[in-house]
Amino acid sequence: MADGKVYIFDTTLRDGEQVPGCKLNTKEKIELALALESLGVDIIEAGFPISSPGDFESVNQIARVMKETTVCGLTRAVQKDIEVAAEALKPARRPRIHTGIGTSDYHIKAKFNSTREEIIERAVQAVKWAKNFVDDVEFYAEDAGRTDNDYLARVIEAVIKAGATVVNIPDTTGYCLPHQYGEKIAYLINNVPNIDKAIISCHCHNDLGLATANSISGVLNGARQIECTINGLGERAGNTSLEEVVMILRQHANLGYYTDVNTRQLNPLSRLVSDTMRMPVQANKAIVGSNAFSHSSGIHQDGFLKDSQTYEIIAPEEVGADGSKIVLTARSGRSALAHRFQKIGYQYTRNDIDVLYANFLQIADTKKEVEDTDLHAMAKAYEATAVAN
Ligand code: KIV
Ligand code: ZN
Repeated sequence: MADGKVYIFDTTLRDGEQVPGCKLNTKEKIELALALESLGVDIIEAGFPISSPGDFESVNQIARVMKETTVCGLTRAVQKDIEVAAEALKPARRPRIHTGIGTSDYHIKAKFNSTREEIIERAVQAVKWAKNFVDDVEFYAEDAGRTDNDYLARVIEAVIKAGATVVNIPDTTGYCLPHQYGEKIAYLINNVPNIDKAIISCHCHNDLGLATANSISGVLNGARQIECTINGLGERAGNTSLEEVVMILRQHANLGYYTDVNTRQLNPLSRLVSDTMRMPVQANKAIVGSNAFSHSSGIHQDGFLKDSQTYEIIAPEEVGADGSKIVLTARSGRSALAHRFQKIGYQYTRNDIDVLYANFLQIADTKKEVEDTDLHAMAKAYEATAVAN
């Protein structure tokens, strides 16, 4: 099998930062960039340098401090954008310019009032211009998800010929189904004669909740870079979630793909991003949600306590989570109750638990979660009755 390394292109600081309320200052961006480098991502998209002096400064500072990670700046297919990005990226050891243009008919007609031929020409000129400043030029075909495959193949062939090292196939509107997105990547592999000269990148949005599935489908069909964000942050419903794609490839290592991400840092970094961007993580979010390793129903708790693998496919420490949790609710069973009593210092027999369980259910029906303080109170009352009898 060909090398299965999948490059992780993190765009938390660019697409993620576009989320209303998530704006970061330079100091915050540097702190997150350092944490992302330590996580082991291959490329950090640090910002859109022409968009504001603050973003220029952030990209420039990040370019100074990154040791090994490629630092990328976004541009439109506009000379001035490219020159400003090149200037911001000057201190980077590994600079990349990410330039591109909309290729779907929606973009060509509504946004640019242009023609397919003219768009190819603008794409080629942008890549050629960027090549004057850096070797590593990534081209994005915005709204590739809704771009006719034949035309997309022509665009991609032309930009690779112009020097693009990476070709990004964004499903900008999160429109594609996984098999359609995978077929699009396969189509490019089979119909772009010079495709072996570039890496194909997936950049999927989550409007239909399919960003992760589409990115994985892209990889299964030949893409070797995934653009993603911590906690899946990004425009509208977000981008592909970094922690999800990394863990899918790890969990299914038999497929032959891998990333260089240190998975133990996933939960700490998720918390750091959530705190810094002031954007809470939903409790049931895969890998990093507070419920990702919680078990609350009696059937699950009983199985989990016998062997954690009955209900967990990932060990919490593998992704830096605090540990599995047995949550006591009205749906919990006796084994979970006995386990929790034991954890807080009470050794009860089966008969004791039978009596305590009836009491437990009465309390559990009145609240969402039974806490240790409730158990201590139950134990005190139970022991007092035992002494009295
Ligand atoms: O979603 C998108 O198409 C983008 C491009 C700018 C890469 O974010
Ligand atoms: Zn995007």
